[in-house]
Parts: sequence; C-alpha cells; structure tokens
Amino acid sequence: MHHTSLLLALLSFLFLGDAAFPDCEPKPCGELTVEYPFWLGGPNHNQSSSSSGRISCGHPAFEVWCSDDGVVSLSGTQILVLRIDYSSSSLVASHKRIADGNDGVCKTDFNISSSVVLSPFKISRSNRAICFLNNCNGTEPRGFGLFNATSGGCAKPVFAYLGGSYDRENPPRIPTGSCTYSYQPVLGSAAPANLTAPTNYSRLFKEGFLLEWQRNGFGDCAACNASGGQCRHNNDTASFACLCSDGELRRSTCAGEYHLPS
Ligand SMILES: *[C@@H]1O[C@H](CO)[C@@H](O)[C@H](O)[C@H]1NC(C)=O
Ligand SMILES: *[C@@H]1O[C@H](CO)[C@@H](O)[C@H](O)[C@H]1NC(C)=O
Ligand SMILES: *[C@@H]1O[C@H](CO)[C@@H](O)[C@H](O)[C@H]1NC(C)=O
Ligand SMILES: *[C@@H]1O[C@H](CO)[C@@H](O)[C@H](O)[C@H]1NC(C)=O
Ligand SMILES: *[C@@H]1O[C@H](CO)[C@@H](O)[C@H](O)[C@H]1NC(C)=O
Ligand SMILES: *[C@@H]1O[C@H](CO)[C@@H](O)[C@H](O)[C@H]1NC(C)=O
Ligand SMILES: *[C@@H]1O[C@H](CO)[C@@H](O)[C@H](O)[C@H]1NC(C)=O
Ligand SMILES: *[C@@H]1O[C@H](CO)[C@@H](O)[C@H](O)[C@H]1NC(C)=O
Repeated sequence: MHHTSLLLALLSFLFLGDAAFPDCEPKPCGELTVEYPFWLGGPNHNQSSSSSGRISCGHPAFEVWCSDDGVVSLSGTQILVLRIDYSSSSLVASHKRIADGNDGVCKTDFNISSSVVLSPFKISRSNRAICFLNNCNGTEPRGFGLFNATSGGCAKPVFAYLGGSYDRENPPRIPTGSCTYSYQPVLGSAAPANLTAPTNYSRLFKEGFLLEWQRNGFGDCAACNASGGQCRHNNDTASFACLCSDGELRRSTCAGEYHLPS
C-alpha cells in the first residue's frame, strides 16, 4: 500500500469511524427484522441509533415505528406492517381501523388507498378487491352479487361485493344507490371464491393485503451488500449510499468506484 493511501485510510478511519455512522445492524421488532430501506424511528426509539449527522439507516419514506408490544407501523400511521419480504420488495400490511377487534366490517366506509397515497408503496394487483356499501339507508341496489355483510356489532347495515384483482385506478363499477362506496384490498390467497357462504371479514382484514415498492428504486442494496458494503441513505444528497469496510461512503457498491484518489 502507498503511504498516501495508508494515510488516507487512517484518516478516514479516524473521521468516519464508528462515531460518525449510526449502527444500522438489522433491528428486530416483534417478529420482523427492520433493515434498509426501512429504519426504526418514532417516539419509542432513540433517534441517534438510526441516524447520525447526514447519514440515516434507511430512506425517509420507509420510516417504521415499533410499539412496546412489538407492533410495526408505517411511521405511526394506522397501517401496520405484518411481514416484509426484502427480496421481492413487498410487504403485507393491515389497516388498524378494520383489522382490530371483530367488527371491522362495520368500519369499512373509507378507502385504504387514501392512506397510502403519499407513500412509496403501491397496493399490489395480486390483491382481491372487496367493495363495501355503507350508509345506504335502504337505497342499496339489488340483484347483482351484492351480499349483506352486516355483523352483529354493526349499528347500520353493510353490503359487500367481491371484485376481481385490485386496481386502484379502476374500482369495480357497481350500482351504489345513495350509499358510501369504498373498496378494500385483501390478500388474493385469503380471499374467498365468492361471498355466497358466510364470510369472516375480520379474519380477511387481519390477514391484510400486499404492498409493493419499486425494486432498486431506493438504491440497489443487494449489490452494495454483495460487494461487502452496508446500505445507508445520505440525507444531504437525498440518495443511496454504500458504506464500505474502509469507512468510505460510495454511491452504489464497494467495488470499482473510489471516493478519493490514491
Ligand atoms: C441514545 O443513544 C445514545 C448513544 O447510543 C446515548 O448516549 C443516549 O443517552 C441515548 N438517549 C436516550 C434517551 O436513551
Ligand atoms: C433525514 O431526513 C428525514 C426526513 O427528510 C428525517 O426524518 C431524518 O431524521 C433525517 N435523518 C438525518 C440523519 O438527518
Ligand atoms: C373510494 O374510492 C372510490 C374510487 O376512487 C370513490 O368513488 C369513493 O367515493 C371513495 N370512497 C370514500 C369513502 O372516500
Ligand atoms: C333514511 O331514509 C328515511 C326514509 O326514506 C328518511 O326519512 C331519512 O331521513 C333517511 N336518513 C338519512 C340519514 O338519510
Ligand atoms: C342484513 O343483515 C342484518 C343482520 O343479519 C339484518 O339485521 C338486516 O335486516 C339485513 N338487511 C337486509 C337489507 O337484508
Ligand atoms: C362459493 O364458494 C364456495 C367455496 O368457498 C363453494 O362451495 C360454492 O359452491 C360457491 N358458490 C357459488 C354460487 O359459486
Ligand atoms: C373470525 O375470525 C376471527 C379472527 O381469526 C376470529 O377471532 C373470530 O372468532 C371469527 N369469527 C367467526 C364468526 O367465526
Ligand atoms: C449487508 O451485509 C452486512 C454484513 O456484511 C450485514 O451486517 C448487513 O445487515 C447487510 N444488510 C444491509 C441492508 O446492509
């Protein structure tokens, strides 16, 4: 090794050593493992262990909170994270409003899609869509596969219609009377073949729905990792950073690209 590169390596170790970077080891919450592009934030979490200076463990849009009882949510919203599949850039989420308790079907008068509109996630088309009609006050249409979904706990009747694959832009166009129309995604694998038989909507809502994020849209973490680096987010440049074993941050991987001339 050149004297200059040895000196640079030593300097970068001194200036960019442990103290300068947060510890971004994968962090457990409940049964989940939180790692890039996700990162733990929120009131229950010591911020300095997820970020330091300009460097953060994950992308700003992927902040999750971990509650005392090990429940992961998208930055404290009602969207709960049940499973994360890093290799397929997808996660299974549920909406607390309808997943909690056993009367979720009585609270279906909203669209989950409006909760995730600002996030980097897309509701997968592999979900099934179920339409709900609330507040009909007797105006519910008849005779086209609309089922009475009212459960014992509901103050007002609720009606359900099983749509095809979930498409945010093209919700099933069914007659709606003067009812409040909403449509919810449920896991394709959990959806019933029809609503003729009694359907446990609470169980469906607890099982959640699939969200996807753009693969490599937030940096190619797998490539960085495969080159021996760890994935980070640089807030200054709002971009992906690969932290290499020499303590240097590089833009994509630890192979080939040098931060400083040697
Ligand atoms: C947060 O972590 C830092 C370093 O790990 C520690 O010095 C500090 O006391 C912690 N703060 C709280 C509120 O736990
Ligand atoms: C990075 O930016 C996000 C939001 O833009 C913020 O929540 C986070 O605390 C920042 N992290 C650092 C290390 O500055
Ligand atoms: C849900 O979304 C559909 C389609 O965008 C819209 O027609 C309907 O009014 C929305 N329902 C509510 C309760 O916002
Ligand atoms: C429900 O329908 C009844 C009878 O048609 C009407 O008197 C009442 O005002 C309606 N209530 C609402 C909230 O629209
Ligand atoms: C729907 O089912 C509920 C509960 O079984 C019942 O009280 C209500 O009358 C039904 N409504 C219609 C329009 O069938
Ligand atoms: C509805 O699905 C059930 C199985 O979930 C099946 O046994 C039944 O035959 C189906 N009914 C209709 C009308 O397709
Ligand atoms: C519906 O499913 C939930 C959750 O799996 C369960 O707790 C509940 O007992 C079921 N309800 C009925 C009527 O089977
Ligand atoms: C990358 O690899 C290191 C071990 O070399 C590991 O500790 C780290 O958790 C991996 N994942 C990410 C997202 O950096």
